[in-house]
Amino acid sequence: MKLLFSICGLLVASLLQAQVMIVPKPAECRSTDGGVFDFGASTALRVECAELSRGAAIFAGQVGAILGFEPAVKIGKAARKSVNIALDPSLKPEEYIMDVTGRSIDIVGGSAKGTFHALQSLRQMLIPFKGMKRAAAQSVHVKDAPFFAYRGMMLDVCRHFRTVDEVKEFIDLLSLHKLNVFHWHLTDDQGWRMPVDRYPLLTQVGSQRAETVVGHARDSKTYDGKPYGKGFYYTKDQIREVIAYAAARNIEVIPEVEMPGHAMAALAAYPWLGCRGEGYRTATTWGIFDDVFCAGKESTFELLENVLAEVIELFPAKYVHIGGDECPKARWKECPLCQKRIKDNNLADEHQLQSYFIRRIEKFVNSRGKSIIGWEEILEGGVSGTATVMAWKRPQAGIEAAKLGNSVIMAPSKFCYFDYYQSENQAAEPFAIGGFVPVSKVYQVDPYAELNSEERKTIIGLQANLWMEYIPTMDKVEYMVLPRMAALAESGWSYDRRDYSDFLTRMQNLRKLYDACGYNYAKHIFQE
Ligand code: ACM
Ligand code: ZN
Repeated sequence: MKLLFSICGLLVASLLQAQVMIVPKPAECRSTDGGVFDFGASTALRVECAELSRGAAIFAGQVGAILGFEPAVKIGKAARKSVNIALDPSLKPEEYIMDVTGRSIDIVGGSAKGTFHALQSLRQMLIPFKGMKRAAAQSVHVKDAPFFAYRGMMLDVCRHFRTVDEVKEFIDLLSLHKLNVFHWHLTDDQGWRMPVDRYPLLTQVGSQRAETVVGHARDSKTYDGKPYGKGFYYTKDQIREVIAYAAARNIEVIPEVEMPGHAMAALAAYPWLGCRGEGYRTATTWGIFDDVFCAGKESTFELLENVLAEVIELFPAKYVHIGGDECPKARWKECPLCQKRIKDNNLADEHQLQSYFIRRIEKFVNSRGKSIIGWEEILEGGVSGTATVMAWKRPQAGIEAAKLGNSVIMAPSKFCYFDYYQSENQAAEPFAIGGFVPVSKVYQVDPYAELNSEERKTIIGLQANLWMEYIPTMDKVEYMVLPRMAALAESGWSYDRRDYSDFLTRMQNLRKLYDACGYNYAKHIFQE
């Protein structure tokens, strides 16, 4: 009887899933007539070499959480009734080919990254009916590779902290959607969360604020009276753990240390870093603050270079993000040391002082073998040719940077700010900062808009940002990023093959995986 049930179930599954539905859209995805693969407790994952077993073990855990059993991972030859995983050096590193038949599932990838992506596609094909401990995978031929090399998401853990486990969950979301960069925003006015051995007060003092504004910072004078942030920073071991966790899921972690603006927490820890030298406290409201790092003092550069030296030692990524956004010039205008710096270096104004600041930091980072990324304001006063520009605010900024020949990552707020509302009916939504970025808008982001073929070569990819002023819980993180992250993934991975109505159809399947994982996702696109 039980057997009959499961056979019926597989039959129904195969009828309902006549078309294989994967997000982001694979380059090639063709149904074949090889039958249905019955994925059950006896299915094994057979990897060709030890290098591939880590990704297979992660996949085993992921399907185990949903199907109720973990397939065994074995190193050895391909076999029937197995998922066979191997390398094919003729493919690009993130590329993979997957053939599913009733006999076996055969995966080859250009590297462990490619095979891991294939397994994430397979996850989307193995969604069981409720209570069943097996799933049916339709026979299919998939050949797939990403369009853009850089597909990222930023998480701001300064405004509201996220624990290591929560950061890992965020990384799980990225890897499910085949994103490959986790941009970790570690320092800001309201909290410094990056451990620095040489300057312990950065975390001891700078991680904490006296209280937090209630309601929208734009018009609120109410504070909650509750100290926030005691112990809310990472240890270096925890950061190493996150980097390793991400690497196992094909994700690189790029740290961001903000300068010269968004520095209130650092100034609270070491007041000599500011032009006035005293009277600072970690910010308790959101916004842009006039107190920034003093660009006139050598001691500012000494501290920042020592901080960056530790960051560079800790993070293996080739890039360090040095912020650069939203730096008011009011203090520099009245600071004798900043004015002296302008004069001594024949700079025209404070905008060129900002450029001096960023170029000097860039030289240091380059001297340690790494490259900088900065928000688009690093264009102010002239940018060096080797900096990568992260465009976010002015629609033209990324285009300007591309025309200068700088490498560019597009993260335009109009399309890629996931702290914005998902509906125009704001009253029906969880409280957010403002704006309106529905899934359909994320889907329309075009990193190549207005660029000729030469300029397009400078675009390395795109990113969405999750600023956390109004996002205090992980539940709300999930709501703000899902399913917008799927649209971002499709814009980044499947840029040349996007089709919104087809995407909406495929999302009906991915949604089942969100449900099975218990994610709190926004439902708007499923009600249209
Ligand atoms: C930014 O949103 N200030 C980069
Ligand atoms: Zn100064």
